[in-house]
Amino acid sequence: MTTQRNAYRAAILHSIADPKDVGLDNSYQFFDDGIIVVEDGHIVDIGETEEVLARQPKDISITEYEDKLITSGFIDTHIHYPQTGMIASYGEQLLDWLENYTFPEERRFKNPVYAHKVAKLFFDELASNGTTTALVFGTVHKESVDVFFEEAQKRKLRMIAGKVLMDRNAPDYLTDTPESGYEASKELIEKWHNRDRLLYAVTPRFAPTSTPEQLATVGKLLEEYPDVYMHTHLSENKKEIEWVLDLFPERDSYLDVYDHYGLLHKRSVFAHGIHLSDCECKRLADTESAIAFCPTSNLFLGSGLFKLPKLEEHGVRVGMGTDVGAGTSFSILQTMSEAYKIMQLQQEKLHPLKSLFLATLGGARSLHLEDKIGNLEVGKEADFVVLDLHATQLMRFRMHQATTLEEKLFVLMSLGDDRTVCETFIYGEKAYDSRGQIDEKKFAS
Ligand code: GUN
Ligand code: ZN
Repeated sequence: MTTQRNAYRAAILHSIADPKDVGLDNSYQFFDDGIIVVEDGHIVDIGETEEVLARQPKDISITEYEDKLITSGFIDTHIHYPQTGMIASYGEQLLDWLENYTFPEERRFKNPVYAHKVAKLFFDELASNGTTTALVFGTVHKESVDVFFEEAQKRKLRMIAGKVLMDRNAPDYLTDTPESGYEASKELIEKWHNRDRLLYAVTPRFAPTSTPEQLATVGKLLEEYPDVYMHTHLSENKKEIEWVLDLFPERDSYLDVYDHYGLLHKRSVFAHGIHLSDCECKRLADTESAIAFCPTSNLFLGSGLFKLPKLEEHGVRVGMGTDVGAGTSFSILQTMSEAYKIMQLQQEKLHPLKSLFLATLGGARSLHLEDKIGNLEVGKEADFVVLDLHATQLMRFRMHQATTLEEKLFVLMSLGDDRTVCETFIYGEKAYDSRGQIDEKKFAS
């Protein structure tokens, strides 16, 4: 944690509201020559350089970035760390992809040494892509979550994760039971939830892999620990939906299965939600549940086109998710680029300022963490990134022809990726530097 005041000077852009509520022009703050001041892991000042320096101590240490842009860290509202090693697996849609690629890889996480190795690589990838908070699936193995949280704690990250619950329709080597899943989740909640910046999510994989008895234990855990998250998949693939309705014929819809067992509350996050009815959207909004929009995954698995306008009309909270390893990139910038194309296929536009909101403050709102993260307002945790909008020859050439902030932002979100991220700060400390200037021993173990 920083014990002294440090200032960082560059152009600064951050989202302060949803464009749908306040209009595009009132949804962001931009300082052409700006400064943020950080102390004890928090933002203590932000504004135009001249104004901020007038009110800060004369001897404050200032890091100056020429021709760079500071913005708040990206928030990934749905990702699987154990799928890092099987990203880009060829040829299948959801159910076969799970069976052929995902389950065999997740089996390896019984071994905590392997799990730790992947967790480290995963956090390195997040940092180099400018992602500072994520809602993360572990595997069915309790150890997979222990090593994940240990590593996240070491890096002072704000992370939310949970042990997968699966007691049917999966290989024996990956299943638990309603009792063992409940007990292990309880132990993990007691150990990790609200420890430093870590939070727990009860994580049933999806309705087909849990019996009614197991789903009932999820509802019980949420009653016992009302401030933990619930994280699962919903309505991603047409065959998956048919399967759910076959397995739960007495329920009205896919969402109704979760609803019946008490799984909808304000900290529930459902990945995908591509094929939802109006009734389901309304119920999500009424319960303040959120949907994670995962464009690269939806395209990669051929799942379908996400209907952002429909969800917004119903007032459902939406955040962005990479869904690695069905998603094909850790980069939220790349994810926004694919989101734009998904909207185009439906004759809809996704404005770059709306994308900025979804990638940052919108994600924080989906997780009900907007009082802590999501932008650079005073009092928030100092998770931020330094971006180079001219990182590649093509970006440099294209940016010179961009005249407005909005145009530059759009080019950034269309062409940018990890090459654009120069530095990532976690809780006020530099956690990643693209030039490699970081203490390698920092996270070594
Ligand atoms: N549905 C159930 N499990 C998974 C998973 O691991 N990835 C995706 N994309 N969908 C799922
Ligand atoms: Zn997923």
